[in-house]
This record gives sequence, C-alpha cells and structure tokens, in this order.
Amino acid sequence: MTQFFLNGTPVSSDAPADTPLLWVVRDEFKLKGAKFGCGKGLCGACTVHIDGAAQRSCVMPLAAVAGKRVTTIEGVGSAEQLHPVQQAWLDESVPQCGYCQPGQIMSACALLAKNPDPDDAAIDAAMQGNICRCGTYPRIRAAIKRAASSVSKSDD
Ligand code: FES
Ligand code: FES
Repeated sequence: MTQFFLNGTPVSSDAPADTPLLWVVRDEFKLKGAKFGCGKGLCGACTVHIDGAAQRSCVMPLAAVAGKRVTTIEGVGSAEQLHPVQQAWLDESVPQCGYCQPGQIMSACALLAKNPDPDDAAIDAAMQGNICRCGTYPRIRAAIKRAASSVSKSDD
C-alpha cells in the first residue's frame, strides 16, 4: 500500500508500486483533469505537482510519491474562487481544444510559485515541456504575465 496526500487529503492506494501515478489519479481516484498524451514524459499533458514541483505523472511510479503531496488541476482553486492563473487563462481565452491545458496550468502555477515575475525566457524555459498542438503558446505567455501582475498587485 502506498500512502500520500492527494489535493490535501490523505489517501492510500493498493495499486502495484510501479503503476504510473497518472493511472492511479485518473482510474482509482477518478480525477480526470490530468491527461494522457504521450505516456513517455514528453508532452506535459499529465503534469501534476509533487511537493510543489511540476512533474510528469505518466512516468512517475506510484511508489515515488509515498508520503508526498500530490496536487492535480482539481486541487488548484475552485469554481467559486479561481486561482489567479486560472482567471488569467479565462481572461486571455487561452484554450482551444483544451486537452493540454490542465498540464499547462500546472506548469504555469509551479513557475509563478518559484518566480513571481518571469520574463519571456523564464516562461519559455519553464513551459517548453508542455506541448500544445493547437498552438496556444502566445496566449499562454500572455496569461502567465497577466497572472504574474495580478498576483503582484494583490500583494501590494
Ligand atoms: S502523457 Fe505524460 S508527458 Fe505526455
Ligand atoms: S489547446 Fe489543444 S492541444 Fe493545447
């Protein structure tokens, strides 16, 4: 049995230790926000936070998160109170098909937690592992800047 925290709640899973975390989150805990894209750690669709860092859950064995804090897109904000990054995503109308977007938002949140005022190079470096076949990259960059400014304003 593997015990960890999922969106702040202590949980346990009896899945085999080498089961990818993405399978556990989606199939066992029915959180469908993180997506399966490549299954090889190359596209970012499955991005979650593990102890606050953006990680690819498709290549993360369950055993590796024992005792750790796993956050999925379902644990970021709420319908009543969106996270500033989610609000910026809406304001900039970022998504097209939407498939990659939970992963994009998780990477963006992790970036802003570490660097509240990223420049273009920092955004590109943090987001380069998140692929969008709809080509929403310019709006993603704009949304990250909007979220950064709204966070810094709310800190004033
Ligand atoms: S599905 Fe995990 S990186 Fe592509
Ligand atoms: S919005 Fe369609 S893949 Fe990114």
